[in-house]
Amino acid sequence: MSKIRVYQLAKELGISSKELIEKLSEFGVEVANHMSTLEEDEASIIMEFYDIDNKKPKDKKTSKKQNRENDETKGKEAVHEREEKKQESPKKIISIPEKIIVKDLAEKIGKSVSEVMGKLIALGVFATINQEIDFDTAEVICGDLGIFVEKEEVKEEVEFGLEQEEDKPEDLRPRPPVITVMGHVDHGKTSLLDAIRKTNVTAKEAGGITQHIGASEVEVHGNKIVFLDTPGHEAFTSMRARGAKVTDIAVLVVAADDGVMPQTKEAINHAKAANVPIIVAMNKIDKPNINPDRVKQELAENGVLIEEWGGDTICVPVSAKSGEGIENLLEMILLAAEMLELKANPKRLASGTVIEAKLDKGRGPVATVLVQNGTLKIGDSIVAGSSYGRVRAMMNDKGKAIKKAGPSTPVEILGLSDVPEAGDLFHAVREDKIARQIVEKRKLKVREENLNATARVTLEDLFKHI
Ligand code: GTP
Ligand code: MG
Repeated sequence: MSKIRVYQLAKELGISSKELIEKLSEFGVEVANHMSTLEEDEASIIMEFYDIDNKKPKDKKTSKKQNRENDETKGKEAVHEREEKKQESPKKIISIPEKIIVKDLAEKIGKSVSEVMGKLIALGVFATINQEIDFDTAEVICGDLGIFVEKEEVKEEVEFGLEQEEDKPEDLRPRPPVITVMGHVDHGKTSLLDAIRKTNVTAKEAGGITQHIGASEVEVHGNKIVFLDTPGHEAFTSMRARGAKVTDIAVLVVAADDGVMPQTKEAINHAKAANVPIIVAMNKIDKPNINPDRVKQELAENGVLIEEWGGDTICVPVSAKSGEGIENLLEMILLAAEMLELKANPKRLASGTVIEAKLDKGRGPVATVLVQNGTLKIGDSIVAGSSYGRVRAMMNDKGKAIKKAGPSTPVEILGLSDVPEAGDLFHAVREDKIARQIVEKRKLKVREENLNATARVTLEDLFKHI
């Protein structure tokens, strides 16, 4: 980017737009107002001037060569100095909407209307107190008044009506718990999930168990439990980073012959940070030479105090190999889930989280989503991250085509325009149009952010040529 607006350059230089306009005029560059665009060479003149202005008196003994070297680095230093100054004095930032009425702005920033009007007039903007001004103008005059402002984010949920009223208590129904299995490498997470599926996926299903998607449902005494097969840590980090919470309970697998290891500690930290209850599955108890007490001791040292030691964490000894303790573990999961009183409203439009997604050669973008509230139906318009579309087909964890999916159901869906990212939230919306608008807006925001980042870099690059 070679051009820059007056107010942007003023902001970079830490001066008011008015001051910059005056200075530009002294250099023979006449601009209309703060929104005028400056060419690269016009901006350079001013930047050079301000550098000279800020330059400390040179040491008399400094050689010409050193002076030249100093001059070469001055641009960079000036940028850094300004950056440092900005960081040194953290200023309060006031959020204002994209368009604001003059008198509302005065009230928001705690200044008199006449002060605000005065600054507007100085800028050449003649607005009445009841007139709306745009954010860029407001930012400039606030800057002149020594106040930093930022654009108020209109919550997407509000703008597009994604935020629905709170669910009525009578609409809430119990929903199955969603479990993530976590633990150190080779402690038996996959084996444990396999054992769980073997023990519980209804035996009547012919042809054994084929797992089609990164999540599975098992049924224990008529109660469903949903397991996410996404590697535990990934699920927690990527999803938490996006503000999604998918797991109700974490099953921490610790091998009885190995004890608490680095990734066990990480898993504990993740679960605690997400405020998710932990159930310890002490695995490989079929092995000789194991020391369960030592493992319990290590768990206590890492903040996981099990019940028999006076804490409230359940620890179930299991063997993924022999199947011992698996039934017990599932019972404990159901018990813990019961205490959480997990509920959702199957009547509303669906919302949830993308668990994994990929581009399939034949089928296009394929996403595994976890429906967390509402019911997702074939034909629903949905938006997920920066992709949207209509649900064309849905498959459950056994690869069976289904027509609708209620709360706590993992499903594979077809029909999205792009491949969303794991951890993206998804929403079903009333109309295709809304889904498209949301995605367009999200993409625009990303583009703007990228552009801003480029503008900043280019400005620093400019100094290199001075
Ligand atoms: P990563 O996915 O690599 O982190 O490992 P994991 O935690 O999923 O472990 P996995 O289930 O792959 O098991 C690792 C090894 O331990 C395999 O060789 C399993 O056969 C063995 N193993 C798992 N559970 C048991 C158990 O209960 N008893 C015994 N004896 N071996 C087990
Ligand atoms: Mg594994």
